[in-house]
Amino acid sequence: MKKIILTGDRPTGNLHLGHYVGSLKNRVELQNKGDYDEMYVFIADTQALTDNFNNPKKVRDSVIEVALDYLSVGLDPSKVTIFIQSMISALPELTMYYMNLVTLSRLERNPTVKSEVKQKDFGSSIPVGFLNYPISQTADITAFDATIVPVGEDQLPMLEQAREIVRSFNNIYGDTLVEPKAVIPDNEVCRRLPGTDGKAKMSKSLGNCIYLKDDSETVKKKVMSMYTDPNHIRVEDPGDTKNNAVFIYLEALCNDEHFKKYLPEYKNLDELKDHYEKGGLGDVKVKRFLYDVIEDILEPIRSKRKYYEDNIDLVYDMLKEGSKKANRHAEETLKRVKKAMLIDYFD
Ligand code: TRP
Repeated sequence: MKKIILTGDRPTGNLHLGHYVGSLKNRVELQNKGDYDEMYVFIADTQALTDNFNNPKKVRDSVIEVALDYLSVGLDPSKVTIFIQSMISALPELTMYYMNLVTLSRLERNPTVKSEVKQKDFGSSIPVGFLNYPISQTADITAFDATIVPVGEDQLPMLEQAREIVRSFNNIYGDTLVEPKAVIPDNEVCRRLPGTDGKAKMSKSLGNCIYLKDDSETVKKKVMSMYTDPNHIRVEDPGDTKNNAVFIYLEALCNDEHFKKYLPEYKNLDELKDHYEKGGLGDVKVKRFLYDVIEDILEPIRSKRKYYEDNIDLVYDMLKEGSKKANRHAEETLKRVKKAMLIDYFD
């Protein structure tokens, strides 16, 4: 069987450091390892519209922003097919067929959907399109015969649902679809980077994100005002590094090279943590180091972004080419599906 990697993001704003450590970095590594037959990364605008249908401009603008983020972190269109979900018309068609295989109660029980419904305050007025998005996500995955789907932890119920649909389809119509496997980051801290305010997650609505496109000044302001240990008042006080966003970020982002370069009096993060926990190490020093580390990562990303912003036609061309290529694969799958379902009348 071919090894096909596929993943995507909803375009609802710019991508941030949480996306970077949780998925983008890993995607670039996967891409460069080259251990796959095909790799797809796509912008899930159709899905973004399921809960932003009344804000098309936001989705439209975010599509190009996310594409810029992709290119600037190093996704390479010569290795990875980057495309826009709504440009693939086989996807809604597959969705329609898969809808027969899923019950309403199963969708309502999907834990990700459940928590989103609560979050968005839909009450009992849940739009059908929103409730349906796990099915449409199954179409995204199966249309490309994806075997490996690198996602965040919150997406595991989506993958479970996709696997159920695949099994059910294959049972009824014969072996047609490929069962996907989710892959989540193996590094615990990378799974959920807290916000700069120490809250559970970086989230645009909470305003606690560091964006990949933030300039140095903005990053500095955000880092210097980050949440640390509220009981670490004086430098001499012993500090907590576990519930301390600054140390959690360092855990996710820094390496020993960063210490050599910016903070040579410590060999590694363990030594720095030790000192902080014993007392005698001030927040400002640790934050300055974190700022240097983040800048070290963001600087090359920013300059790539600048290049593509100045050559925005290249970005549109890339998306157009990618969507064309993705369409070819999805159309093949659709043919197979229709044949299995005996609705291939004219072939
Ligand atoms: N649901 C994903 C998110 O919110 C985006 C997405 C849509 C996706 N379709 C997908 C991810 C298919 C992986 C595979 O981030």
